[in-house]
Amino acid sequence: MLIASTWWQAALAAVLIPIMPPDVVERSSRSGADVRALVALGPRVTGTSAAEQAAAYLTAQYREAGYTTEVQTFTYPKFEDLGSSLSAAGERLTGRALSGSLAASPTALLVAVPGVGQPADFEKASVKGAIVVVRRGQIPFLAKARNATAAGAVGLVIVNSEPGELYGTLGGEVAIPVLALSGKRGSPLLVNSEQAPTRAGLVVDTRKRTITGRNVIAHLPGISRPDVLLGAHYDSVPDAPGANDNASGTAVVLELARRLAGTTLADRVWFVAFDGEEDGLQGSRDFVNRAESAWVKGLKGMLNFDMVGINDKLLVGGSSPLVAVAQAADSTVSPFRDNGLSDHRSFTAQGVPALFFYRGQDPNYHKPGDTSVNPKLLEATTEVGLEVVRRLVATSQQDALAQPLVRSKRMLAGGALFSHHQVLLPGQSWNAGCSTPTWSWLQQPCAGA
Ligand code: BES
Ligand code: ZN
Repeated sequence: MLIASTWWQAALAAVLIPIMPPDVVERSSRSGADVRALVALGPRVTGTSAAEQAAAYLTAQYREAGYTTEVQTFTYPKFEDLGSSLSAAGERLTGRALSGSLAASPTALLVAVPGVGQPADFEKASVKGAIVVVRRGQIPFLAKARNATAAGAVGLVIVNSEPGELYGTLGGEVAIPVLALSGKRGSPLLVNSEQAPTRAGLVVDTRKRTITGRNVIAHLPGISRPDVLLGAHYDSVPDAPGANDNASGTAVVLELARRLAGTTLADRVWFVAFDGEEDGLQGSRDFVNRAESAWVKGLKGMLNFDMVGINDKLLVGGSSPLVAVAQAADSTVSPFRDNGLSDHRSFTAQGVPALFFYRGQDPNYHKPGDTSVNPKLLEATTEVGLEVVRRLVATSQQDALAQPLVRSKRMLAGGALFSHHQVLLPGQSWNAGCSTPTWSWLQQPCAGA
């Protein structure tokens, strides 16, 4: 962050700030202050008081900028690992319960099964009543767990075949506890227990809680059908203060609201700070599901800002026509392949064109080190966002004008009253030459009108 913490940074700031136009300094420091305020609350994990305070902060800021706000709450079940491990041969190996696992703590023989947990693999060892160990890969976790259960195992340990910890989801109900171990901790088990099975204690301590999330929605009073929706998630993962992911995008959307306030463009936009993104796009999915389908279909675009506070290059992904609009708005932005890993996916899933603003990989992604961003990059992102909104609203106005209009008149012909209809394009007026009496609609605009 542009904070002067040493004498030379203070000196540099003293030289640089006066040469930046005062309004730019003010705006970027406003966004910087928003990020600092959100980060100061601690990790904004959905359902915690820090997240609730963040929603209150955003509500206050949008109101101060002249918008009406609404906090839309939603709930979802969340699986939590309270500390799971495998103890064998006097050693306790910490692991991660697979999401959806049964919570149980059996003590039994530990048997390594050669392979990845296919039904045939379990026939090669005596696994009835045992805790079995298999390698990750080839078949889904759920299939491994169900095959182990069918073979009579009382617990399953899956050893990661890729570097690092394995955070997995079963994606279905299982009747035994399932633990994942990193390759580093788990690989020796695959070798050792193949030779001499030992007794082991498996602990899978989990719970399922109902989480309440809060989307903060802001728009001008009376604006019920926006053309453009600007969104960013404000929640973060546990242990990460989420400066870049995603106080940065949240601050950009808020600053866009401040900059648009007082312009006619503000009549065409809604702003949403989404919650529950880190738990699987929960907030945006709830928002889209709750809205009427005609409302969702009426959106010309959803602009999502996620991780826009570090790295110089601004990347844009999503639907090609919108990527083209962004490139026309600013020639320095680069298209990138959208990974669909953020809230815009909830909108594209319903056919809404979306644009995803992102600045590339962050070494502090989901880590305690995600504590600061560069406010100048927030300001630069805001400028591009603003120009994209201008262009989208302008084209949607042209589209509205380009809608053919059907005019009807009743006319007397041969003593009887007939209805005449004409399809008129913008700028066209009623053409008597086209009005032969008819009961049917003229499908095409009248030629030569
Ligand atoms: N900000 C990230 C999305 C992201 C990650 C964008 C990397 C671009 C590159 C987001 O908050 C996130 O962490 N998403 C999850 C997936 C989501 C569906 C829960 C992720 O990437 O694991
Ligand atoms: Zn994230």
